[in-house]
Amino acid sequence: MKNIIALANWKSNKNVKDAETWLKKFSQLASAKINFKGKIILCAPFIDLPILKKSLPQIPSNLNFFLGSQNISAFEDGPYTGEISAGMLKDLVSYVLIGHSERRTYSQETNEQVNQKIKLSTKYGLKTIICVSELSQVKSIKKENPSFKDIILYEPPLAISNISGGKADSPIDVNKAIEKIKSILDKSLVIYGGSVNPDNVLSFISQPSIDGVGVGAKSLEPQAFWEILENVGRKS
Ligand code: PGA
Repeated sequence: MKNIIALANWKSNKNVKDAETWLKKFSQLASAKINFKGKIILCAPFIDLPILKKSLPQIPSNLNFFLGSQNISAFEDGPYTGEISAGMLKDLVSYVLIGHSERRTYSQETNEQVNQKIKLSTKYGLKTIICVSELSQVKSIKKENPSFKDIILYEPPLAISNISGGKADSPIDVNKAIEKIKSILDKSLVIYGGSVNPDNVLSFISQPSIDGVGVGAKSLEPQAFWEILENVGRKS
């Protein structure tokens, strides 16, 4: 069985106290024995990252648990009010989530900005998870960042839970879409996001080309996210 990536994306949820509570509960759950051998990446709001980083020792050391941000500035340090640069993040997180469809829609993020953010993250030693829903976005990464070999999160916007009402895409269709992505970015791992929950996670990770899952709504409660990991572990 492949080693699965399980990415939690809290989106614009959880203040510092909520984040601390989540990590405490998750750590308690994680003290139970499970068979999940993959990588867990928690992409949290910027304000939560320092307390999460400080609390990481609570998480049992047998879990491969990493922190990520949900965005990064397209600029270096400097006169860019409100931006958080790669240089500012480099000691806080291991991963950066870039180009989520919600950012592309509500903040008009473009392929050009996404590519610039990949370049800056790489320069500062941060690994990236790039969200895509169309092949044109994949081709643009290949063109502007030809040596890209981090993680791609394939997320059809209509499958995201607050739009789909919790109805995920079909695992077979996702597998086909991911095969196409891998034919362009052949060194990348590609995971699926969109209404993933404890009951459907196995149907996705059983597909040959799907390397893991991105989880939004069901990552907000430690118990639901933990059940996703447990179910993946059972299959391993
Ligand atoms: P969802 O979100 O799991 O709530 O559908 C996925 C995502 O957008 O990251």
